[in-house]
Amino acid sequence: MDFSVLENTVKNGLKSDKSGHDFKHIMRVYRFALEIAKSEKKVDLEVLRASVLLHDIAFSKGFFKGEHGDVSAKLAKPILLKAGFPKSKIQNVLIAIEVHNYWFHNEKNVSIEAKILRDADRLDAIGYNGIIRMILYCINANKSIKQELKDLSKIESKFETKKGKQLAKERIKIIKDFSVNLEKE
Ligand SMILES: [Fe+2]
Ligand SMILES: [Fe+2]
Repeated sequence: MDFSVLENTVKNGLKSDKSGHDFKHIMRVYRFALEIAKSEKKVDLEVLRASVLLHDIAFSKGFFKGEHGDVSAKLAKPILLKAGFPKSKIQNVLIAIEVHNYWFHNEKNVSIEAKILRDADRLDAIGYNGIIRMILYCINANKSIKQELKDLSKIESKFETKKGKQLAKERIKIIKDFSVNLEKE
């Protein structure tokens, strides 16, 4: 399977995104996902890689304030078929994409690839990149930065993989420090 076809489609689709869901976000989530996958058993890397690459493709159609997993999944199917992705695995990719949005989904009975995608995506919502993305989100969604910081502080308990939890520690601290110092100012 040649993933460069998928990569180029996503890169092109998200090139105008200014909401924090651009190709750089996808690539950071991709690196986090592969790192988490090393610590997990029986991960289908083809399913994981395709799920990560296409999880936010809904943003190629503009900004979404709420749930966008089902829109990404709908758009992903023809892209996967065109790229020659193994047909028997397409459904697994689509389900992982559908449930990736951790603000709306916390089902426990999902595949390991779906859990890794959610954790990798959560990791890019915290740390310094998380702060930048949160501000971009607040501007686009007309939401309060203080409220978003409050919501982000709850993310700590939501990680589903051991490695995800471990990688989150330092980044959660960055969010908390930012929040405290912002209050002080
Ligand atoms: Fe998303
Ligand atoms: Fe994402």
